[in-house]
Amino acid sequence: MSAVVIYDSHYGHTEKYARWIANELQISLYRLDEIGALDLTTYDTIVFGGPVFHGRVKIANLVNTLIPALYDKHILLFTVGLHPIDATYFKHICVDNFNYLVQQYGDFFQLRGATNHDKMGRWHRLSVWWIKKIGRAIAEEHVKELEETTTNQIDLVSRYRQLVQPIVDRVRFYEKQASLE
Ligand SMILES: Cc1cc2nc3c(=O)[nH]c(=O)nc-3n(C[C@H](O)[C@H](O)[C@H](O)COP(=O)(O)O)c2cc1C
Repeated sequence: MSAVVIYDSHYGHTEKYARWIANELQISLYRLDEIGALDLTTYDTIVFGGPVFHGRVKIANLVNTLIPALYDKHILLFTVGLHPIDATYFKHICVDNFNYLVQQYGDFFQLRGATNHDKMGRWHRLSVWWIKKIGRAIAEEHVKELEETTTNQIDLVSRYRQLVQPIVDRVRFYEKQASLE
């Protein structure tokens, strides 16, 4: 299979999703700081995954820079954030982070992340407190999940494991198409 997963991750949740996708498809997986001289034009399908911090997708700069060389590839992008899965918010994230070419050629997926209170520095704790404050106005369920995550009562990402299936299915579809050409 000529596909690859490239990801970045701070707290490990994007990495978890990226590994699930790569393992299920049996394809290579690279963290952003590992890609070095890797030539992405040798793949037919590239899956990029990045976390959202303060509305910014960490892997977006790389994708925006590479897209002119990859426009004839199948590009899938998944973002991982705490925000509940919501079309309006996600559209806003895509438009703010990705240039026009990426928006035209990419398949976008929104996945749910989590926080890791024990690994968090002071500024991130303050930010999460603020997100919770906003979240309270958006959805009680979201806030409840955040609080459970903070106390490590649940593994939020494992709860949302099924969200990777559409990504896996899409890659399989593209690879099948490529094999028929
Ligand atoms: C300081 C901070 C800012 C964040 N900002 C956002 C945000 O703007 N939107 C969002 O959906 N999630 C936000 N999150 C949640 C992260 O995206 C979530 O923790 C995600 O799982 C991080 O990915 P990682 O575990 O791969 O590092 C934020 C988290 C922190 C700690």
